[in-house]
Amino acid sequence: MIKVRDIPQSSLEYSRIPTEELRERIRARKAELNAVILGHNYQRVEIQEVSDYLGDSLGLSQEAASTDADVIVFCGVHFMAETAKILSPSKTVLMPDLRAGCPMADFVTGESLRRVKARFPDAVVVAYVNSTAEVKAESDICCTSANAVDVVRSIPDERPILFVPDRNLARYVAERTGRECRVLDTAASQPSSATPGLAPILAWDGYCYVHDDLVLDELAEARKKHPGAKVVIHPEARGDLLREADYVTSTSKMVEIAEKHDTLIIGTERGLVDRLKQQFPLKTLIPLSGAAICGNMKMNTVAKLAWSLDHLQHEVVMDEEIRMRADRSLRRMLDLSGGWRAPTAEESALEDAGIRRSGCGCG
Ligand code: 13P
Ligand code: SF4
Repeated sequence: MIKVRDIPQSSLEYSRIPTEELRERIRARKAELNAVILGHNYQRVEIQEVSDYLGDSLGLSQEAASTDADVIVFCGVHFMAETAKILSPSKTVLMPDLRAGCPMADFVTGESLRRVKARFPDAVVVAYVNSTAEVKAESDICCTSANAVDVVRSIPDERPILFVPDRNLARYVAERTGRECRVLDTAASQPSSATPGLAPILAWDGYCYVHDDLVLDELAEARKKHPGAKVVIHPEARGDLLREADYVTSTSKMVEIAEKHDTLIIGTERGLVDRLKQQFPLKTLIPLSGAAICGNMKMNTVAKLAWSLDHLQHEVVMDEEIRMRADRSLRRMLDLSGGWRAPTAEESALEDAGIRRSGCGCG
């Protein structure tokens, strides 16, 4: 049983409590609140160990849409916790540290997007899920690294696409779908491989500082040391690197690929590689760069998580009108990804009568 001392007030005081006691506290408090901990693959390994569900942005949003818990504690960054709130508005969504934002998401605001939309009135706006609720509300559909190609393929050929905020993901998707990619307000374009008849992708000039910093020299070095190793890289990396990869995919798909290979060079944030090394100690799993660390993801600690559960802080709140519009873009994406379907009329009636628990009706 958990030894209950007086509940300390600050998360700093929690950091002095031994880890095992913190874990017990987290377990007990979760049961008391009917809470669930959703953790992203880049979290510190100790956070990953106490998470009830671990995944990529797509998996986490599917889980947030379908959970029966009353409280969701999100161990990730802002846009992920916001996504959980958008999809589960009646639940309390908590973040252990409010400073855990995603700098890539901050490249675009609702206001700047509205201005660019006015310049391209016939464009379909695709928002990478790494964006604020306000930006999602201004968009037609969302995508994640796991489904961006499918989302773009679902858009009629003749409609241009305004893709925010990641230029690297936009370029990758353009290459995969045969569209030209033009980075907005720069001379950058990749017209050579474009298929005639397909309207271009107009990419916002944003990027992830962790993935954009991965370079070809590091890959050459890793390959020299591990000839024969397969290479998997996240699509937020630059195009020259992605063209060298055997696989380009989201963090959760990387886990599946690691299960199948004994030697693998992994081009993404260290948190995922560290956990995979623990999970598969006999495999040779090489981080493409040891310096690929997202400081924002690492803001969350087990001490702050325990504090968050004890104090029901920091609660994510948002304007209802923005939430509803952002929800529409996210649901369109989830519909396409097979992870969410609207309840049937019969299921809705049962929900209304309180017989069936409301949720997403995941297939
Ligand atoms: P995934 O959706 O692939 O987990 O990526 C999220 C992210 O923030 C990558 O930097
Ligand atoms: Fe944002 Fe990059 Fe960190 Fe992912 S790794 S949360 S995109 S800054």
